[in-house]
Amino acid sequence: MTKKTRFRLTLCLTLRLTFFLTLCLSQKVFSHTFETNPNFATNLTKAVYADLDILKLAHVPLLYADSNINVGYAVITPKMEQRLSQLAHARGRCGNYEALSQIPKNIVEVENSFSVMTQIHNKNLNYRRLSKNNLQIFPDLSITEALHQLKSENIKTTVAYLSAFPTRYNKGAQANLHVNDFSEKLKILIATATYPIRLDLISHASTPQKSIRVSIQGSTKPNEYVIFGAHLDSINSWGGPLKPAPGADDNASGSASLLEALRVLIAQAQPQRTIEFFWYAGEESGLLGSAEIAESYKTDKKNVISVLQLDMTMFPGDGEFKITSISDFTSPWLRDYLRAINTTYLNVEILDDKCGYGCSDHASWYRRGFPTLMPTEAKFNSMFNFIHTEKDVISSVMSFEHSLIFSKIALIMAMDLGNSNQREPLF
Ligand code: BES
Ligand code: ZN
Repeated sequence: MTKKTRFRLTLCLTLRLTFFLTLCLSQKVFSHTFETNPNFATNLTKAVYADLDILKLAHVPLLYADSNINVGYAVITPKMEQRLSQLAHARGRCGNYEALSQIPKNIVEVENSFSVMTQIHNKNLNYRRLSKNNLQIFPDLSITEALHQLKSENIKTTVAYLSAFPTRYNKGAQANLHVNDFSEKLKILIATATYPIRLDLISHASTPQKSIRVSIQGSTKPNEYVIFGAHLDSINSWGGPLKPAPGADDNASGSASLLEALRVLIAQAQPQRTIEFFWYAGEESGLLGSAEIAESYKTDKKNVISVLQLDMTMFPGDGEFKITSISDFTSPWLRDYLRAINTTYLNVEILDDKCGYGCSDHASWYRRGFPTLMPTEAKFNSMFNFIHTEKDVISSVMSFEHSLIFSKIALIMAMDLGNSNQREPLF
């Protein structure tokens, strides 16, 4: 526990927390993520993880904190949530915190999850200290040829199709309308494969909305998983479940980039490793679908090589051919890998930026110890401004050529990592 500075609860705080938790639990206010009736009043409090600096700035009382990894745990009231959100918007950001889908039963559970975060943090520090930074990817003709098959018009068609649903909100009255319809399209696509491939609709305990998984069985290493994901749901943060939530950029775009990669991948030879594509449920309500899926992969001790998350791909906020690699809740190995495939295949400019909290489904996997990567459309401050509103639609400021860069990243990873022995080096 060397230089670690932990703000452990004082006895007084423990008593206050116990009282507070008991009060909260007795009022069932922690059930916010399990709420299914859209007309039901919103909950009073939320248990959250967030950047320690931001929690302090918003004067949120800390229930647990670790300055080494810069993460704090707090139970926030609507007033605190408002302060966090104001702070977030002042910085051009979105949520600024991550609501927990499973409420810690006691402080030991919180301690445990901090200790896991510390282990991951230390693993990544070791990688940075000891890796020789010599990751090189040699060009492969079959990958170059496959990249030419990707078409931006297909991404546009998929974004137009998904954003035409009035909402894809997980708490809407028809939370699975788009899920079922999109699955039918996927079934038609995967029927063209010449090797074992399957589609599963995954039910969740925390939301009635389902996630979709397409699994391509690996030929020689079926127990090694190369994973891709995008959240298919949308939200209108200002209007509730009945208001339009087209979610074109957030995240029909990432979902569509992924589908285009899958379309081309299916026409290639069967990969050696198992490749899985997820379209997650309920991300906008707290990473719900991905949290349950990553938890079950952890329980099953699945050998996950990599997890790519695509969230927001079509607004070139920093200019065309400039993308951003999110540097928190992602693995340094895969961030180096992204730079290596960029040199070999993509030739775009890669900027670095943080979300400052677990801002998308990659965090669900990262938190459970799996290697993750999240390239996205632009730096946080230059991202599309109208996400979570009815103005998140296709317009002339969007670029499907930009979205195509992300399909390329997914296709390269599927064909390269899917057919090699590369994995995160452990020091
Ligand atoms: N697409 C956003 C996250 C995002 C925003 C990524 C800006 C990159 C840049 C995502 O759908 C989202 O809204 N996430 C939530 C957090 C989640 C834990 C509810 C958010 O940021 O408020
Ligand atoms: Zn969102």
